[in-house]
Amino acid sequence: MIDFDKELLERTDRINSAIASFLPDETGPQTKILKACNYSVRNGGKRMRPLFMESVYRLLGGTDLQAVYPLMAAMEIMHSSSLVHDDLPCMDNDRLRRGKPSTWAEFGVDMGTLAGDGLMIYAFETICRSSLPEDIRLKAVSILAEKSGIFGMVGGQTVDVELTGSIPDPDTLKFIYEKKTGALIEASFMMGALAAGADEETISSFEAAGLDIGMAFQIRDDILDVISSTEELGKSAHADDRNLKMTWVSFYGLEQSEKDVKRYTDRAISVIDGYPDDGFLRELLLRLVDRKY
Ligand code: IPE
Ligand code: IPE
Ligand code: MG
Ligand code: MG
Ligand code: MG
Repeated sequence: MIDFDKELLERTDRINSAIASFLPDETGPQTKILKACNYSVRNGGKRMRPLFMESVYRLLGGTDLQAVYPLMAAMEIMHSSSLVHDDLPCMDNDRLRRGKPSTWAEFGVDMGTLAGDGLMIYAFETICRSSLPEDIRLKAVSILAEKSGIFGMVGGQTVDVELTGSIPDPDTLKFIYEKKTGALIEASFMMGALAAGADEETISSFEAAGLDIGMAFQIRDDILDVISSTEELGKSAHADDRNLKMTWVSFYGLEQSEKDVKRYTDRAISVIDGYPDDGFLRELLLRLVDRKY
């Protein structure tokens, strides 16, 4: 059995170095947005989505991590862009992210908006730098586009923002979670499988596992918003209450939400259980059930 904590640190370190290597130099007339982009991606973060992608890639026998780092970096860049926009005053109006001023609080609303836009597009440039075969890169671009755009994360954020202050029906609440958070985690699982050369059927089963982990991840995020502190989270606690958001916790209660996190996680684990591996992904998913930040 691997030493999970040591492995997690090492993998996260390598991911951080890889991400840094793909970020733009801060020179030229548009230096301000380049600084805002780099600030938004470099400022910590658990790097969960790249970790998921790497784990699925390894689980399915992939060995050329160097070729997958651009996809992992692209995913984290896209995720960071979603946080930059999520924090804007017109959205969740949050001044703190990953323990530092959020991008708009540091660089202004104009640069915050542009940095989010810039990062979304830069994610696709980053995928294109991979040495994976052209057809795989094209499929990766297509997955990321669908899962991050109007049929994915942006679609979910739309309904989330639109229904702020009202009580959505259960199906709509689930739609918000599946899209705003589930979609990028689905994409992380799918791109790991794709890069490892998996067939369509296998990619679909990892898509389903990613969706379950996305649901679990967002429900746990809601739980932490209620039970944790700003210091521990590195972002404002009780932001959902302040923003009059109907969340899984306010809809189903804390106890049921905790059960749901476990239920979604167990179902995802049943997909990966069929594959021989070092146990890393399984342990990672189990630890996320009661993560503290
Ligand atoms: C926060 O995501 C936003 C959600 C989709 C719940 P993370 O909890 O992965 O945030 P970082 O990247 O670690 O800061
Ligand atoms: C975040 O949901 C979803 C996306 C950023 C796409 P939240 O609004 O709950 O995320 P946090 O709590 O601000 O990180
Ligand atoms: Mg939000
Ligand atoms: Mg938010
Ligand atoms: Mg939240």
